[in-house]
Amino acid sequence: MTTTTPCSATDLFTHVLRHGNRADPYPYFAQMRQQPVARMDDGTWLVSGYHEIAQLLHDPRISADRLNPQDAARPAARSLLVQDPPNHDQLRRLVTQEFIPRIMGMRDHIHAVVTQLLDAHTTPQPGQLDVVAELAYPLPVTVICELLGVPREDEPVFGSLARRLTRGLDPVDTQTDEEIHELQQARTELVQYLEVLIQQRHTAPGDDLLSGLMFSQDPSGGMGPVDLRVTLGLLLIAGHETTVNLIANGTLALLRNPEVLARLRNDPALATPLVEEVLRYDPPVQMSGRSTLADIDIAGTTIPKGARVRLVLAAGSRDAKRFPDPDRFVPDRPDNAHLGFGGGLHYCIGATLARAEAQIALTALARRLDSPRLVADPPPYRENTILRGPEHLMVSFDRLTPDVQAN
Ligand code: HEM
Repeated sequence: MTTTTPCSATDLFTHVLRHGNRADPYPYFAQMRQQPVARMDDGTWLVSGYHEIAQLLHDPRISADRLNPQDAARPAARSLLVQDPPNHDQLRRLVTQEFIPRIMGMRDHIHAVVTQLLDAHTTPQPGQLDVVAELAYPLPVTVICELLGVPREDEPVFGSLARRLTRGLDPVDTQTDEEIHELQQARTELVQYLEVLIQQRHTAPGDDLLSGLMFSQDPSGGMGPVDLRVTLGLLLIAGHETTVNLIANGTLALLRNPEVLARLRNDPALATPLVEEVLRYDPPVQMSGRSTLADIDIAGTTIPKGARVRLVLAAGSRDAKRFPDPDRFVPDRPDNAHLGFGGGLHYCIGATLARAEAQIALTALARRLDSPRLVADPPPYRENTILRGPEHLMVSFDRLTPDVQAN
């Protein structure tokens, strides 16, 4: 960024939305934090300070309803992500009861998937790997499809639907007519696909998450067909593109900090705090939306009742009022309570799974790639603003060695 003149909240947000700034929106976030709660010209409030975001995430006067006029007509408005108690809590309980036990003990399986994906490229020769296409993208699709009970042969269809649908999370005025049409098409395809799958499980239940949600032993009974479809769609998007970006952003951080890469290669335990630092430093989910149910006094100003609010999680996690030296990547940063998984009632349900996938994938890359280098820095980025990450991440290397643990 070249300008040093102060910008309005609206201007700063416009800069962040611009695709040309996708590789490094952080200087704009730093400017935003100078006024941590600011009103934009369209009446939306931009919240960018760590303490202010954390306060609002836990405030009962805040609603998860994004007040998106488009949502009113869509079943997605029933997603637990955008619902408030008591509906939210009931749906979340059903999902958590079925989801959490199924992800326990999955580390070995995730390791096996990572090994298989990298084995396909093992070579004693110098070569290149697109970390997004070859590892970060197929890993979470495989894992989420297995959890949900999507047949293996349908994974490519399911994965590409997830990619197409994530653009729908961005502000609607940044989408072209063509993109809006394409999103509607993808939504229709997903609904059709899920209906067939739900029908199949109805007659022949398995031990997958889908069957669990349908035939839950919870006193409230299983989920009805609409909630089921919406929840499966949410898990697909929430659990996929986010994890892709965590692995890609983590790889980028490692290759830009070779001393950290070397440390991880020799000490796999570093993966645990390192992934937390990626979630703070370069988070896959950059912002989230809310609305106010009452006037809220915060940071010397009042957000009025009925206002739309944007919580800029990525800005909050680099706030110097909370994190010392916030623009530095510190792989073993202590006290790293970042906002990468949100907070409060809507704290990410898949955090444990996402952490495991990223820790295992990054450790495997560090151990198996000999002298990895970025082919392009910065890499090309996807259009998406909210779920932000590289489109491709080409890495060249001298050798890609077999899995050391397997030998
Ligand atoms: C790196 C990966 C991930 C990141 C960064 C991430 C981030 C987030 C964030 C920030 C929220 C809160 C949104 C808000 O407050 O508005 C959230 C919610 C959620 N996440 Fe994740 N997520 C990830 C992976 C996953 C996975 C793997 C799953 C499941 C398969 C998942 C399922 C969910 C669900 C269901 C919610 C909604 C919870 C609720 O509304 O109560 N996420 N996630």
